[in-house]
Amino acid sequence: MKRIGVLSGGGDCPGINAVIHAVVKRAILNHGFEVVGILDGFEGMVEEKWRSLNYNDVSGIMPLGGTILGASNRANPFHYPVCDEKGKLCFEDRSAKVIETYEKLKLDALIAIGGDGTFHVAEKLSTMGLQIVGVPKTIDNDLNGTDLTFGFDSAVKIVTEAIDALHTTAQSHHRVMVVEVMGRYAGWIALYGGIAGGGDVILIPEIPFDLAKVGEFIRKRQQAGKRFSIVVVAEGARPQGGDMVVQKIVKESHDQIRLGGIGHVVAQSIEEKTGLEARTVILGHLQRGGSPTAFDRILATRFGAKAVDLVAEGMFGYFPALRGKDIVPVTLKEAIVSLKVVPLDSPLLDVARSMGTYFGD
Ligand code: F6P
Repeated sequence: MKRIGVLSGGGDCPGINAVIHAVVKRAILNHGFEVVGILDGFEGMVEEKWRSLNYNDVSGIMPLGGTILGASNRANPFHYPVCDEKGKLCFEDRSAKVIETYEKLKLDALIAIGGDGTFHVAEKLSTMGLQIVGVPKTIDNDLNGTDLTFGFDSAVKIVTEAIDALHTTAQSHHRVMVVEVMGRYAGWIALYGGIAGGGDVILIPEIPFDLAKVGEFIRKRQQAGKRFSIVVVAEGARPQGGDMVVQKIVKESHDQIRLGGIGHVVAQSIEEKTGLEARTVILGHLQRGGSPTAFDRILATRFGAKAVDLVAEGMFGYFPALRGKDIVPVTLKEAIVSLKVVPLDSPLLDVARSMGTYFGD
């Protein structure tokens, strides 16, 4: 009988519990494997925090947001945060401890649910001999090698509903509402949410925008009788010749930069350039909360089941990816070679432009 560990690394998102649910059921019912849940991402492997996961432990968890195992995006074992005697933050390579815990728990494989940061760690551990399989998770949808990551659809639903709600207040007050959404360096959430919510302007990192032209576009809408506008801006969007707005630096994290605040810059510029009243709403972590959509539950279930099958087949160093309608194995290496951003020839940009949406270029 094989014994497999499962952990959720990086930030949480809707659908992680659906993956855990699928992993445990596929492992027990189809392969006769035993499953161990590692707590708080790779922190659990370094600090030896774990729990057994039986069939009954995963009953009813599919609709739950977050992760029953806890997550951490500050626990890179190769750059592990510790404090010296004076309490000053410093870092140590604790990857050997991960291998030690893996052996102590008598694991035959580890399933790492995560995004870019988790996959970087998983790939490195895999080259050190750990039998590891990934599951592609992130609301940002920026992981290479898979058409979609789970969590993205749920985030887009939240953004769409927020834009719908903002439409009515924008309309009543004849205002410009600027909605800032997550996504790091990729504009997928802004693009999908913006199209679904009927955003008049969508600003994404892949297309640096001209603030003067954005103001001009909104002024023209006003002149044409449209007395309100909705601007959807990705947190990683930036003006031409300008920089992304950094909110804070998290030294313990794989990607230390936390973006946020470009919405205020855009709203202020619109007010100055048009004389119209503008308000900013930063959706923030709401986009990672709540119950996964049916689409994400199904995708997460397919990913979780396939991850266990990959373990059974000895396909280590791989993750299940969505390609078209199929779930196929792809190497962790391929996922981390670069971030998947919105291509400038994306048909979605074209269709949005044909609806009159402006991208600020
Ligand atoms: O990668 C997911 C994500 O939600 C990004 O969209 C966002 O930039 C970042 O994580 C926020 O990280 P934290 O939860 O550490 O604030």
